[in-house]
Amino acid sequence: NWTTADFIKQTVAEIRAQVGKGRVLLALSGGVDSSVCAALLHKAIGKQLTCVYVDTGLMRKNETQNIEKLYAKHFKIDLRVVDAAQLFLKRLKGVNDPERKRKIIGGAFIEVFEKKVRELKTREGIEYLGQGTIYPDVIESMAIGGNPAAMIKSHHNVGGLPERMKFKLVEPLRQLFKDEVRQVGTKLGLPKEVVWRQPFPGPGLGVRVVGDITKERLDVLREADAILQDEMMDAGLYYKIWQTFCVYLPVKSVGVIGDERNYADVIALRLVDSIDAMTADWAKIPNELLQKISNRITNEVRGVSRVVLDISSKPPATIEWE
Ligand code: XMP
Repeated sequence: NWTTADFIKQTVAEIRAQVGKGRVLLALSGGVDSSVCAALLHKAIGKQLTCVYVDTGLMRKNETQNIEKLYAKHFKIDLRVVDAAQLFLKRLKGVNDPERKRKIIGGAFIEVFEKKVRELKTREGIEYLGQGTIYPDVIESMAIGGNPAAMIKSHHNVGGLPERMKFKLVEPLRQLFKDEVRQVGTKLGLPKEVVWRQPFPGPGLGVRVVGDITKERLDVLREADAILQDEMMDAGLYYKIWQTFCVYLPVKSVGVIGDERNYADVIALRLVDSIDAMTADWAKIPNELLQKISNRITNEVRGVSRVVLDISSKPPATIEWE
């Protein structure tokens, strides 16, 4: 008879027994699994935990600040933020193909993370690597014949790192399903926005700016997306819909602001209902709300002349545009 409190108590004891006075490093992405893993490890070993968060420049508005606020200020976790936005932008310059974007983003992430890890390992003698692996990940990796212990669970697949760098793994969520992970997170005091947040792809906004990725486009997308999330929250719909996000379309269209012609790009709204992301349908929300979101984006975000609604189901469309 599983209770969340029992699990936490027992796992805290196990973590302490495993690491003793050793130090643990954890890649924190802000996703549900790594967040709950951070809170649990912190409860068990406090200052012996160090979290590394890589700011790729492809995050949503205020995401990095919110992570700092929650983990460093509130939980008092030793959090090292690596600002790598310039590197990611440089690598992505002129790249249009979605799969190449993914490869570049994943590769840059591993490079930046590994560099930081090496620094911490040699300078500060950290020997354990925490991972937010959950039960479905274990099953998945067994199904593909991989060694689950050698896999890293993070928003990018940093495969092979623990072995290459001779880390011992700490994976306190290995036996949990997602809903149990959420219960643990809630019990540990993580806010609802973290525990129940919508899925967000590892490559972040990199696959939500169609075509060339530039800082300007990312900033426009961030502003539009923040308005959408704000309105979904206000309407009490954010947690009821699988994913709600904006996509930046580099298509010029004509608009007017006052008496001026505004020749600018397009924002698409993508709102989908789904159970497991394998299939999805576009979510129906009140027209008045769509109107408000559209008005706010076209009025408040410079660089957008038009908002369109994506009414495609998966299949044949995918949830993300890239
Ligand atoms: P699609 O677009 O294939 O997406 O219908 C299905 C789900 O997966 C997410 N997604 C990703 N997640 N890395 C991730 O970690 C990726 O490269 C990636 N691409 C899509 C998407 O947001 C949706 O929830």
